[in-house]
Amino acid sequence: MWLLVVQALVALCVLHLPLSSTQDCLSKHQVLSTIQQMQKLLSTQEAIQLQGMRNLKKQLTVLQSNVHKQATKRNDSCPHLTAPLNGRKLGEKATVGHEVHFLCEAGFRLVGSESRTCLQDRTWSGQQPFCQTISNCASSPCANGGTCVEDVRRFSCLCPGSWSGSNCQTPISSSWVTLSTSSFSRQPRCTDARPRSHHCTCDPGFQLRAGSVCQDVDECQLFQASWQTRLCVHDCVNVPGSYHCVCPQGYLLHADQNMCTDVDECTDNQHNCSHGELCVNVFGGYRCVRPKCPQPRLNTSYVKTSVYQCERNPCPMNSRACRLAANSISFHYLPLQSNRTVPRVLFKMSTTHLVGDSLRFAIVDGRGQGVFAVQRSDRHSGELILTSPVVGPATLEVELEMSKLARKVLLGKHIFRVTAFISQYEF
Ligand SMILES: *[C@@H]1O[C@H](CO)[C@@H](O)[C@H](O)[C@H]1NC(C)=O
Ligand SMILES: *[C@@H]1O[C@H](CO)[C@@H](O)[C@H](O)[C@H]1NC(C)=O
Ligand SMILES: *[C@@H]1O[C@H](CO)[C@@H](O)[C@H](O)[C@H]1NC(C)=O
Ligand SMILES: *[C@@H]1O[C@H](CO)[C@@H](O)[C@H](O)[C@H]1NC(C)=O
Repeated sequence: MWLLVVQALVALCVLHLPLSSTQDCLSKHQVLSTIQQMQKLLSTQEAIQLQGMRNLKKQLTVLQSNVHKQATKRNDSCPHLTAPLNGRKLGEKATVGHEVHFLCEAGFRLVGSESRTCLQDRTWSGQQPFCQTISNCASSPCANGGTCVEDVRRFSCLCPGSWSGSNCQTPISSSWVTLSTSSFSRQPRCTDARPRSHHCTCDPGFQLRAGSVCQDVDECQLFQASWQTRLCVHDCVNVPGSYHCVCPQGYLLHADQNMCTDVDECTDNQHNCSHGELCVNVFGGYRCVRPKCPQPRLNTSYVKTSVYQCERNPCPMNSRACRLAANSISFHYLPLQSNRTVPRVLFKMSTTHLVGDSLRFAIVDGRGQGVFAVQRSDRHSGELILTSPVVGPATLEVELEMSKLARKVLLGKHIFRVTAFISQYEF
């Protein structure tokens, strides 16, 4: 409005300026000063209005959050539910996630939802149930083969041997008495008489089936088949409520109940190796061995220096056969599990004092050549390596030679006869 007045004044003056005298109109200077005042006034008004708007906005936000808070506080529960006529309601809580249950008195049958849950949107699931009179046998009220009998006021059920309850809906406990604790089926423990599955629990290792029987869980069938989940290293035997691990002959079940540890038949004197034989313990059993020195031939002969070692007798050094014959032959028996991961060092050969300037290792003979390799491990020793997995049972033999040389001239050599007894088991 102010702006319009100023506009009119200025317009009048500008229009009349050339016609009227100057004193009739506001001077140019006066007009400008008025405009300036008006501008100032408007800016002030603008600032005040802006501030007012801001305050209003703030208040609205506070109000909104309050309303929201109030709404959630008051309405995180569902409307009150009443018990059906001639029935009961179990459960008082009406907050989100809670459940209530309905029951009818004897002679009435529940129609509608037996349970209702308070949902996120503050409504109840299902429908409000009611209790309908069961006054006659027409509705076939007797379950599990019960016979319905009517009298003047109401019906009753005559239940077959193993069922009880007003509608023959409950299995009779006595039928479970015949089942001992060693049985694979047991009676569930129920918190109330009603045969509702989620009110019943089973002993550990049992699982509720068909809502009324605790059936043993077959842990072996569930877990043993897969390598990742298997319970026992060998066999699993399912028993009521649990399982047992069993080990093959030659093993003992370990304290932790699923490991099988090898029995050392040799130290336990459980072997029947004959006199003169040596007992070698292997995984799952034992072997009887009789290390024998080679027969004398040409100018060389051997003598036993220990149960596992033969030494060459002194022989004429000018004889070629003597120079080529090994100085010693030793016997080594290695028990091994089936299918071991490779590469795997099985055996180390070494010389205590190095005569000459080098050692050379080689596989000279053996049926297991394809799966073995030898390599030098340091200045004084070499090792036998298993290079591919072997599935037992198997017996592999390999003969290794360690030669001592000085300026490429053979000074002497030692033979290692290695026998690997590979078990049929992987443990
Ligand atoms: C919110 O709660 C009130 C009473 O606390 C109730 O009357 C109203 O029906 C509820 N609203 C909803 C959507 O449940
Ligand atoms: C003893 O050895 C014989 C074979 O020489 C074998 O048949 C028998 O089962 C062995 N007995 C035991 C207790 O290992
Ligand atoms: C065995 O040794 C004798 C000397 O003691 C020698 O004369 C003979 O040639 C040797 N035999 C062989 C096959 O080296
Ligand atoms: C040997 O072991 C490997 C895993 O290390 C497995 O995949 C394979 O089936 C095993 N072989 C036998 C014959 O058990």
